[in-house]
Amino acid sequence: MNNRPFIVGNWKMHGTRAMLAEARAIDRAAERLIKVEVAIAPPFTLIHATRKEASLIGIGAQDCHPADGGAHTGDISAAMAKDAGAGFTIVGHSERRTNHAETNELVKEKANAVIEAGMNVIVCVGETESQRDSGDAESVITDMLTGSLPEGDIVPERLTVAYEPVWAIGTGRTPSPDDIGKMHRHIRGVLNQTYGEAGASIRILYGGSVKPENAGELLSADDVGGALVGGASLTAESFLGIIMAAV
Ligand code: G3H
Repeated sequence: MNNRPFIVGNWKMHGTRAMLAEARAIDRAAERLIKVEVAIAPPFTLIHATRKEASLIGIGAQDCHPADGGAHTGDISAAMAKDAGAGFTIVGHSERRTNHAETNELVKEKANAVIEAGMNVIVCVGETESQRDSGDAESVITDMLTGSLPEGDIVPERLTVAYEPVWAIGTGRTPSPDDIGKMHRHIRGVLNQTYGEAGASIRILYGGSVKPENAGELLSADDVGGALVGGASLTAESFLGIIMAAV
């Protein structure tokens, strides 16, 4: 198992080439950070340039189409993302599930396509506030995982799960470390059931309002293998603050 914390910056729909300077600065600092695995998922348009500017950190895509190719205007296949320089792809982010009506079935197809293309995959799951308030968070996460995880045997290093409560994304609110630990233990149980022995070695990231100020506390919660960071990954200064908390 890769025991290094995995800190991933999801730039979402932010960034033009002017932002490559941030990627360069993160990459330079990462050279000295052998204890942490660092990656950025820029928009598709910056994958190739970011890969060229930042040679030490991982570079990934934020989504892909499940098909290899075809008449899908505006879409990008997993193989295309890989060809542009991506080593992993995020699938099932709540913004994709909500804004593009992505179902578990579609997320699973995408996850399978990413693995098939030879990349690693990060599968995101997370409950809404009303699902948490009604006490359904764990069963919702079980359904999302069983519906979205890639099929077949898995090499644990190829799959990462990101637990991102929807109500914590971009809101400044976070679950308590106890609640995060409880959910990560639940996710671990589902991974063990799904993949047997391999399930024990799959990293589970926490995501949702992770900042330099709270990263130490959130990362120390039970079975947290790293963080998926949105807003605070957009400048090298704040992203490095989070990375340093993981060292
Ligand atoms: O992918 C990242 C998450 O959606 C978290 O975003 O750190 O801006 O809350 P945030």
